[in-house]
Amino acid sequence: MANINFTSSSPPPVREIPGSYGLPLLGPLADRLNYSWFQGPETFFRKRIEKNQSTVFRTNVPPTFPLFFANPNVVAVLDCKSFAHMFDMELVEKKNILVGDWMPSTRFTGDRRVCAYLDTSEPQHEQIKNFAMDTLKRSSTNWIPTLTTVLDTMWDTIESQLPSGPVSYLVPIQKFIFAFSSLCIAGADPANSPDIADNGYIRMDRWLAVQLLPTVPINILQPLVEIFLHSFPYPYFLVSRDYNKLYEFVEKEGKEVISRGQTEFKLSKEDTVHNLLFILGFNAFGGFSILFPSLLSALESDKTGIQEKLRKEVREKAGSESGLSLRSVQEMDLVQSFVYETLRLNPPVPLQYGRARKDFELSSHDSAFKIKEGELLCGYQPLVMRDPKVFDDPETFVPDRFTGQKGKELLTYLYWSNGPQTGMPSASNKQCAGKDFVTLTTSLFLAHLFMRYDFVTITGASFSAVEKPKPKSKNE
Ligand code: HEM
Repeated sequence: MANINFTSSSPPPVREIPGSYGLPLLGPLADRLNYSWFQGPETFFRKRIEKNQSTVFRTNVPPTFPLFFANPNVVAVLDCKSFAHMFDMELVEKKNILVGDWMPSTRFTGDRRVCAYLDTSEPQHEQIKNFAMDTLKRSSTNWIPTLTTVLDTMWDTIESQLPSGPVSYLVPIQKFIFAFSSLCIAGADPANSPDIADNGYIRMDRWLAVQLLPTVPINILQPLVEIFLHSFPYPYFLVSRDYNKLYEFVEKEGKEVISRGQTEFKLSKEDTVHNLLFILGFNAFGGFSILFPSLLSALESDKTGIQEKLRKEVREKAGSESGLSLRSVQEMDLVQSFVYETLRLNPPVPLQYGRARKDFELSSHDSAFKIKEGELLCGYQPLVMRDPKVFDDPETFVPDRFTGQKGKELLTYLYWSNGPQTGMPSASNKQCAGKDFVTLTTSLFLAHLFMRYDFVTITGASFSAVEKPKPKSKNE
């Protein structure tokens, strides 16, 4: 399809925003139970698109009472065109709304609001975002050697356990992500700290879980989850020991990066370390921990022989001497497209929010709506990324969707990073500072896999077999 242009000669007709928030208390309660329990987020939003005959409508989203002082009223924006208004920083403000109208206690981040909760109008946003992007840029020469070393350790461990049966990849992948992100983002080597080498990833998991649990839909053991996990925020002291250990690790091992934060970006030492920890733990570790399993699950479900095609491309472009480089990976069109398609169908951060800075008119593909200053927009990316007006066969995983000229044009509508894939993160927007690092790292992960193996057999969250390339005979 591509070449879709959102600007049209005749503006769409203005319509009242359909949907309602229901009766006080009862409306939010009914929506909360449907969202988290009876329907789940996807059906929840789909049913309301059908009922309202519109991809823009009013609804409530969790968290709601009893102990959340949050306003659950939002305007849902569920097509590519209306969703894209949230990238326009003249129209929306992003202060404290990373996970909705409620934010976890700042106790979890050293009693300060870290970058992801800051609006672009706050001076610290520019300092920290520039610091984050600079840190990645400086470490870019180390990405390939670091990734190769840490990945080889992961695969050696998995291979050594395979003779005893299928090996779950969840823990090895988390250990890999933790080590790789620590090295590339904080310049900190977990191997220098025995506790962190063994438990760093679990400490991160616990810190993330306790702050985010109230907002994550978990459709098992209901209504217990609703009553005990979604009714109140959790206190920081449950994970203070974990966070302090992680802080000590970054403070001790990441001295060079911390000192740059202080001297070049004029941040205090505490601001630097807490922000580094958030970027390393919440953004990178949290994001990759969702993305890599989605990537492997896409390989598992493929019935089109994609592994053979990926292997062929990787070995052709990398050359026979294990020549993985940033340049060779950027030439691997199918590998990159496979990563983009994984991000399209499984965006690791599913919900995005934006608060109207002023009254403005918001358009979907067929209508325009008047948004009032202060209203909260809420986009659910898994549906936005299946907008049939933008993506052909939107529900299907099409590995080569983003190849060729048409595929490249489609990247304008790939939004996993809170901005188009063709956009540039900067201090004046809220697009993910790691946008290119994420897609390159994930492409490198896939390329490394097909340099090392001819084929991998994945069942659920486990590897059950890996086939190594056969040694070449003398005549070959
Ligand atoms: C922001 C996704 C990895 C740094 C964001 C946002 C998303 C996102 C959706 C915007 C959230 C919002 O405001 O609504 C992801 C995913 C990742 C990932 C899915 C991995 C798979 C990284 C990495 C870095 C990073 C490796 C390292 C620098 C940031 C920062 C922000 C951000 C600093 C805040 C941007 C700002 O305040 O302007 N990320 N991210 N992210 N991300 Fe990432």
